[in-house]
Amino acid sequence: MTSSVLSTKKKDDKTQNLSIHPPKNGLTLAGKVILPGDKSISHRALMFGAIAEGETIIEGLLVGEDPRSTARCFRQMGAKISPLNKNRVVVQGIGLGNLREPKNILNAGNSGTTIRLMLGFLASQKDSFFVVTGDDSLRTRPMSRVITPLEQMGASIWGRKNSSLAPLAVQGKQLKAIHYLSPIASAQVKSCILLAGLMIEGKTTVTEPTLSRDHSERMLKAFGAELEINKSINSVTITGYPKLTGQKVVVPGDISSAAFWLVAASIVPGSELLIPNVGVNPTRTGILEALEMMSADISRENEQTIAGEPVADLRVKYSQLKSCTLEGSIIPRLIDEVPILAVAAAFATGTTIIKDAAELRVKESDRLNVMATELSKMGVKITEFADGLEITGGEPLHAAEVDSFTDHRIAMSLAIAALMAKGETTIERAEAASVSYPSFFDTLNRLISNNGEEREDTPAQKEPISESQPESQPESNLPESTGEESAPTLGDFNPANNEDESKTDLW
Ligand code: S3P
Repeated sequence: MTSSVLSTKKKDDKTQNLSIHPPKNGLTLAGKVILPGDKSISHRALMFGAIAEGETIIEGLLVGEDPRSTARCFRQMGAKISPLNKNRVVVQGIGLGNLREPKNILNAGNSGTTIRLMLGFLASQKDSFFVVTGDDSLRTRPMSRVITPLEQMGASIWGRKNSSLAPLAVQGKQLKAIHYLSPIASAQVKSCILLAGLMIEGKTTVTEPTLSRDHSERMLKAFGAELEINKSINSVTITGYPKLTGQKVVVPGDISSAAFWLVAASIVPGSELLIPNVGVNPTRTGILEALEMMSADISRENEQTIAGEPVADLRVKYSQLKSCTLEGSIIPRLIDEVPILAVAAAFATGTTIIKDAAELRVKESDRLNVMATELSKMGVKITEFADGLEITGGEPLHAAEVDSFTDHRIAMSLAIAALMAKGETTIERAEAASVSYPSFFDTLNRLISNNGEEREDTPAQKEPISESQPESQPESNLPESTGEESAPTLGDFNPANNEDESKTDLW
């Protein structure tokens, strides 16, 4: 027990329940929140650094479970990656086409981005054989979306359920260029094809129905790849065998992590939060447009471009939210924010409708189903349909026992809903947050404990910045147990806190 309002209970070595009891005399959120690095950009910086020539320096990397999975896989294939930390990570690239056949299975853990992007590299790596798997969630997620185009390029991939589910076996070989018309707007699909295209003579093109996040395109260009982008038809063409050279990558704060605080401050009366250094790439800012449609009070300050990505400080103040309808091309631009937007809608006047979001069913959990069942336990009027949700706001929320279903964004969304629910809410398997935001519950604890006082993260409560990770590969992707028998603290949610390496104060 670390706080009268937030406490954890260890179920076993891997899973913990978290209880949130908002203060009886009311809650206000105030101060500054320091975000962890952007997950999508962190994966790409590690991967592109690994296959480039020379040294890549990464500042601001997300030290979460997902980038750890990417680092582990690429170390196994010969890349030298220094221990992950938020300050500075050094990647010694091995050069395009030089991935080493790993002696053991590659484990992408919970990370769809790791497995799907990596498949582009593996399928095109001549004369090498790979087996790749993931955790319970990842092994249920569809891989045909990347295997279909890779097979059109000539790839040899086998897996369960007609080669659609991991574990997957890949015989790397020379592929051929195609123009792929993707049926879905997915940055993972687009990136996988472009990465395979790096090792193919000529031009490989992918066209998507609406634009998905473009971090791969921006970063590949910075590393020296030749890309042609046709914005009017959402198509990208890559020319094979570029000279890729290691770069300095500065990772901005993750707007998908900022979303939790944007909604928290919007629904807790009297709140005001400043969130510095948020990545505001236009392919990711659907959340800001959606909250603006809902009458949220959010302003951008200090806008600039850092290492090819637009960045701004965001200031959010409490505001009575109104319902809105979200559909069409905005959906891929806020795809990861639908769970927290469902929470925002529960506090908005009127009925919010979210459509064209069937992709949510194949994320880390079936996010439409899980948000509908878990929020309705708290008294939210929410209906799930095939490709979306309908939420009528304004009903008072009450505490409940809810479950993250091991999905990081569900765990954090439910925690924000619990701030405004009467009584003590328990979130099962809340440790899932460490996939993208290891210090989330520490920051939440600080904001609740300060209750309206403006203080920014203190060193003990901040995003832990280092990990001690050997160059060789641990067999399991799970956080290591400390063997500690004493009562858990909030820090136990963060596996990096259980490691010995000394931590430097960054801020
Ligand atoms: C990601 C792309 C998105 C997103 C995921 C990260 C990426 O998936 O949901 O969390 O880094 O490319 P899709 O683009 O496949 O929908």
